[in-house]
Amino acid sequence: HLRPAIIAMDGPAASGKSTVGYRLAALLDFLFFDTGVMYRAVTWVALARGVDIQDAEAVGRLAETVELDVRPPRAGEEDGRHCTVLADGEDITWQIRAPEVDRQVSVVSAMGRVRRALTVQQRRIGQAYGAGTQEKAGIVMVGRDIGTVVFPQAPLKLYIDASAEERARRRHRELLARGKAVSFEEVLADMVRRDRLDSERDLSPLRTAPDALVIDTTGLTPDQVLERILDLACARLAVNP
Ligand code: CDP
Ligand code: CDP
Repeated sequence: HLRPAIIAMDGPAASGKSTVGYRLAALLDFLFFDTGVMYRAVTWVALARGVDIQDAEAVGRLAETVELDVRPPRAGEEDGRHCTVLADGEDITWQIRAPEVDRQVSVVSAMGRVRRALTVQQRRIGQAYGAGTQEKAGIVMVGRDIGTVVFPQAPLKLYIDASAEERARRRHRELLARGKAVSFEEVLADMVRRDRLDSERDLSPLRTAPDALVIDTTGLTPDQVLERILDLACARLAVNP
C-alpha cells in the first residue's frame, strides 16, 4: 500500500511554516492547507456572534456546526501564503488575522470538542489529497499537531522553528508594513504567551514528533529553508519539483 503524499509541517508562531509550506507545495504541485485558519475562523465567528469564548460547550457546538471552506491562497496575490477562508459563506480571510483573534485563539484551540470537529475535517481533506487528485499530487498540511496527531503516518514531518526574538521580529515587521502601530515588545510578549498556551495544553500540544526533521530557521531566508528540505521531500515522497 502506498503511503499518502502528506507533508506535515508544525512549529510555533511566525516560524515560517506557511511561507515555506506554500512555496514547497507550489514546487511539488501539492495542495497547501493551513489548519491554523480553521482555529482562527472558529474564534472569529464566536467573537462576532457574541458567544462566550470561555464556554467550551457553546464554542464546541459552534465548531461542529459552522461550515468552514478553506481554499488555497489566491495565486499571484502579494501575500500569497494566506489560505482563503469562508465561514457559512462569508469570506473572513483577513478578519481572522485581527489581534483579538491572536489573543483568544489558544483558549479555543485547547477545547476538546473544537479539536475533534476540526481534526475530522483535516483528516478527510488530507486523505483525499494525500491519495493524489487530478489537480494535485499531494498535500502540505501546516499547523501545530499535524505530525503528532492528525497524520502521525505522514511520510515527511517537518518541525519549523526559530528563536522567539527572530519570530517576533518577523511578525512585527509584517504588522508595521500593514500600518499597524505596535511595539516589538508587545508582539514578542503576545507571541511567547500564545506559544506557551499551545505547548502546555493537555490536548494535542505543540510538540516535535520523534521522527520529525527539526529546522532552526533563525537567520535563514525562506529560500535557504526550502533548499534544506526540497531534496528530502522529493526523495521521501518520490516526486520531482
Ligand atoms: O500563523 P501563526 O503561526 O501565528 O498561527 P496559526 O498557525 O494561524 O495558528 C493559530 C492558532 O491556532 C495557534 O496559536 C494554535 O492555538 C491553533 N492551532 C492549533 O491548535 N492546531 C493547529 N493544527 C493549528 C493551529
Ligand atoms: O506560518 P508561520 O506563522 O509559521 O510564519 P509565516 O507567516 O510563514 O512567516 C512570518 C513572517 O516571517 C513572514 O513575513 C515571512 O516572510 C517571514 N519569514 C522570514 O523572514 N524568514 C523565514 N525563513 C521564514 C519566514
